[in-house]
Amino acid sequence: MTQTYRVTIEPLGKEIDCRSDQSVLDACLRAGVWLPHSCTHGTCATCKAEVLDGEVEHGDASPFALMEFEKNEGKALLCVACPRSDLTIEADVDVDDDVPVHPVEDFTGTVVVLQDIATDIRRVVVELDRDLAFNAGQYMRFEVPGAPGIDRTYSMANVPTEPRHLEFHIRRTPGGICTDGWVFGALQLGDPVRLSGPFGRFVLRTTRPEPAVLIAGGTGLAPIMSMIRHALENEASDNHLTLYQGARSRDFLYDVEVFRRLAAQYPERFSYRPCLSEESADGFASGLVTDVLAEEHATLQGRVAYVCGPPPMVDAALRVLMAKRLFPRDIYREDFFDAGDKASGGVKSPLIKR
Ligand SMILES: Cc1cc2nc3c(=O)[nH]c(=O)nc-3n(C[C@H](O)[C@H](O)[C@H](O)COP(=O)(O)OP(=O)(O)OC[C@H]3O[C@@H](n4cnc5c(N)ncnc54)[C@H](O)[C@@H]3O)c2cc1C
Ligand code: FES
Repeated sequence: MTQTYRVTIEPLGKEIDCRSDQSVLDACLRAGVWLPHSCTHGTCATCKAEVLDGEVEHGDASPFALMEFEKNEGKALLCVACPRSDLTIEADVDVDDDVPVHPVEDFTGTVVVLQDIATDIRRVVVELDRDLAFNAGQYMRFEVPGAPGIDRTYSMANVPTEPRHLEFHIRRTPGGICTDGWVFGALQLGDPVRLSGPFGRFVLRTTRPEPAVLIAGGTGLAPIMSMIRHALENEASDNHLTLYQGARSRDFLYDVEVFRRLAAQYPERFSYRPCLSEESADGFASGLVTDVLAEEHATLQGRVAYVCGPPPMVDAALRVLMAKRLFPRDIYREDFFDAGDKASGGVKSPLIKR
């Protein structure tokens, strides 16, 4: 039987209710209490916190993200830990005043666009039942129909000023439950979807004055597109932005014309470097996006960076950025962890902001 427990969050001293079948993080985010998180699937360790009092069920925590000795020391991953008694937790609450907190809510929606935009990449636009308040760069969790208890996370590519129509860029993972099994299989225009959000702290920092480099691998472009469009079209920030967009070949690179148009429209504000690692083509840099970035900058001191994509690409970008004299506090990143990464371990340096 589902029970409800009282959770006290220190050092805030706030108290919220959490059901026994609900993660502590979910309860906090729905109550408007922001706690650090990234993957929301027990993979990245960003939400690791101390359970000062009470019992939790650790749920589906990756053994790479939460070691056995850490459980014994009273640590838990709040995105997958459910209460088994009233709790007191101590979390690393590091609220950025420049990032508004939008409580997580449940939504239903209808698929109104389903478009193949590159090899194995689909644009999916969902019209929601009501407006969603979110920050550029955040993501939603989709329930996967026919797979009870399974959900997957996808980042919005649209801007917060389009609160009713959410755009997603979804890459097919061979054998993947959500993508191969649903988005690239059964999903049709007009289908209903159930989703919740917004989640994540990989968001455009509108108060940072430094020029920014934004590095996107594959569908890691989605949250970065939201940030760039928000900065330029909604004048959310006025620093210079340079986008490095990487893919293997032209077939895998999408929305190139969108960014070329933005670069032509905002020549003082935005530069665009599409990169192909396995093909040469006019108008495209040759090489891995991270190698092109490294070649083009003797130093990146004085900038901020946003990185998003598959974990190996994000790791490679972090190495380049730090070698080019960026500090962890200047780097914002989001790894598109999947179930395979969770099984094989994918915990990254806690030094880097998520
Ligand atoms: C914060 C965040 C935002 C994201 N945003 C996007 C986005 O905007 N666009 C996007 O395309 N993706 C995004 N992702 C990735 C997305 O959430 C899914 O992980 C991805 O689409 C794969 O889902 P799936 O159900 O199709 O595959 P899954 O069923 O999860 O499988 C993924 C891979 O893992 C393998 N696997 C599964 N279980 C195991 C196991 N036990 N052991 C070993 N291997 C296993 C599978 O064979 C497959 O290769 C994001 C991820 C995160 C964390
Ligand atoms: S947010 Fe909990 S482990 Fe990633």
